[in-house]
Amino acid sequence: MNVREKLEITCSKAWPPLAEDPLGEWRLRWADGFTGRANSALAVGDAGRPLAEALHAVCDFAHDRGIAPMVQVVRDSPNEHAISAAGWVPATGHGAGHEVEVLTAPLVTAARFRGFRVAEPPARAEGPNVTAVPGVTVGDEPGPGWWELTLRPGEDTPAARQVLTGGKVGYGLAVVEGSVAGAVRAALVDDWLHVGRLAVHPAFRRRGLASALMDAVQTWGAEHGADRAVLQVAEGNSGALALYAGLGYAPHHRYRYWVPAPGSCEDSTS
Ligand SMILES: CC(C)(COP(=O)(O)OP(=O)(O)OC[C@H]1O[C@@H](n2cnc3c(N)ncnc32)[C@H](O)[C@@H]1OP(=O)(O)O)[C@@H](O)C(=O)NCCC(=O)NCCS
Repeated sequence: MNVREKLEITCSKAWPPLAEDPLGEWRLRWADGFTGRANSALAVGDAGRPLAEALHAVCDFAHDRGIAPMVQVVRDSPNEHAISAAGWVPATGHGAGHEVEVLTAPLVTAARFRGFRVAEPPARAEGPNVTAVPGVTVGDEPGPGWWELTLRPGEDTPAARQVLTGGKVGYGLAVVEGSVAGAVRAALVDDWLHVGRLAVHPAFRRRGLASALMDAVQTWGAEHGADRAVLQVAEGNSGALALYAGLGYAPHHRYRYWVPAPGSCEDSTS
């Protein structure tokens, strides 16, 4: 398995599904529909059987659990070429975007030169509508308002709460004038910090809050032994990509979601 595929395994561990079956080195994942990452087969490495058989197993696993069959695969990898050749198609209907950039950054610099500043205000948060100092913290539990910002409409289910609280997680929160203005999830896996669900309330954007939240969770991660960070961003999310580039994140690889062509994914048991 190459470094891109190994990092995909790391990211998968940071976003644990509710059910996971191995398929050779692939992983069949289910989390009651909450996110593509937790409800797709991670097709990295060797499935340990002919591809047609592996894709049948993906379909059976999904049908048994009531989700649509989908695979997540490193872009331009041998697995992706084979899945395409087998007649599967890019999952262009995937709501969150089927093409995703994986970005990484070292944490050493942030830890050494910025120090632990979770209680400090972000440097650029003095806009005319912000009269109080924002408090940016990283807690061991989701604080008040954390779920409201990190879950999108219709997403608040037991499965979502279980996925987002799985593993060793730091819950970043930014409070401005008593309002929860921003939130982020950070998970520790091996020596990686996986950052996800960064969200700033529209009324508080472009004032440095996302940057402050990133700084806080990066410091938290470094203090807990991580030396590099990884995050996954939909390719169309130009604002987030600009933010992360400015914070020193560089492209590592990309992945895509693929689905079976209509009518091509019958249950092998039926
Ligand atoms: C992306 C998001 C978190 C940014 O939050 P924010 O608090 O506004 O970000 P910051 O103020 O810290 O931005 C820092 C820099 O990032 C870049 N940036 C942030 N948002 C941007 C946007 N929409 N377009 C272009 N550049 C942007 C800019 O360079 C900005 O500096 P500037 O304001 O001096 O130009 C926020 O827009 C958001 O919650 N979006 C919806 C959820 C989302 O997409 N989350 C990311 C998932 S991976």
